[in-house]
Amino acid sequence: MKIVRAKDYQELSRKAANVIFAQVVYKPDSVLGLATGSSPIGTYQELVERHRQGDLDFSEVVSVNLDEYRGLPASDPQSYDHFMREHLFGLVNIKPENTYLPNGVAADPNAECARYDALIESLGGVDLQLLGCGRNGHIGFNEPADCFSKGTQLVDLTESTIEANKRFFASADEVPRQAFSMGIRTILHARRILTVISGEDKAQAVRDGLFGPITPQVPLSALQLHPNAIVIVDDAAFHLCVQR
Ligand code: GLP
Repeated sequence: MKIVRAKDYQELSRKAANVIFAQVVYKPDSVLGLATGSSPIGTYQELVERHRQGDLDFSEVVSVNLDEYRGLPASDPQSYDHFMREHLFGLVNIKPENTYLPNGVAADPNAECARYDALIESLGGVDLQLLGCGRNGHIGFNEPADCFSKGTQLVDLTESTIEANKRFFASADEVPRQAFSMGIRTILHARRILTVISGEDKAQAVRDGLFGPITPQVPLSALQLHPNAIVIVDDAAFHLCVQR
């Protein structure tokens, strides 16, 4: 695992976009694993800008998103499907039929998890997985647990995640209590992983996840096992790791 420092969110976003840019230039038909949340928004803005300048072509790119809230249809403005269209898919030339997310309103959750895993496999796996990280060290919606999750799962969100994510909803009551999420094993199977972590509220997760023991209690720590993982951390998120 390689840790790259950035002074602030802007620099972090630029550096992350550089990695994705290089991936797509080297392999125009890359399968990108994509993430939501506030962390990757700046990265997506950078990518959109490079696309507008004519330097980045998404016409052959395929994307699979990490997760989706259970109970929200794609049309819901709080769904991750909607988020992706607003921040990336609607702004670049990726083909809508090449973008995949778990179906939040699937009638049979187990069948949906199996379908999503089979889909990722049929695409040949993920070339580059983009990740953010929750305050409690969760990645995707893999919450702290007693063992690392495997494939796509239906997950119960913790109070801390509901609390952290309520800023996107009218109130905490409206935050769905469950979500579909790629598992840790799925994430680690990606050929490359790029994680962006910004802000003081992630400092504890950074210290525990990047420098502490590898444990399912801090899902981020699983990335230490990956041979091709880059984690870009801004100064605010790194501040507990700086030796004084
Ligand atoms: C959600 C998403 C994660 C994301 C996390 C952090 O829980 N499922 O993929 O990394 O939020 O979000 P933010 O980047 O807004 O802090």
